[in-house]
Amino acid sequence: MFGRIDHIGLAVADLDAAIELHTSAYGMPLVHRETVTEQGVEAVLLDVGESHVELLAPLGDDTPVGRFLATRGPGLHHVAYRVADVGEALRELREAGLRLIDETPRTGIRGSQVAFLHPATAGGVLTELVTPVEVHP
Ligand code: CO
Repeated sequence: MFGRIDHIGLAVADLDAAIELHTSAYGMPLVHRETVTEQGVEAVLLDVGESHVELLAPLGDDTPVGRFLATRGPGLHHVAYRVADVGEALRELREAGLRLIDETPRTGIRGSQVAFLHPATAGGVLTELVTPVEVHP
């Protein structure tokens, strides 16, 4: 079902410092930057081989990533697996007894289709399913 790791999501408190770390020290190209008001984040995507690192900076304290930072601090936020069809994967995983955060796919950054699985039944890991727009006609 899972094609590969599409990206890891990192919660960051200082977006400029995180961009500096990943572009200058790590040498990753910054390929996309987008404010997702609905999710309360500014997201930055960097290339690492065929996968990505997604930096997530909260737009405010009272947002999911803002609350994550307040309780857990900066660091690994989620793992995203690439699937051919998010809706189909959700149906299979629901049947397998997994707890879903998103019952249906929604639009993620760069027009991708995404959905999140609850950490409670995903080994304690907030898990994202993603179908990038380039393989989603
Ligand atoms: Co993500």
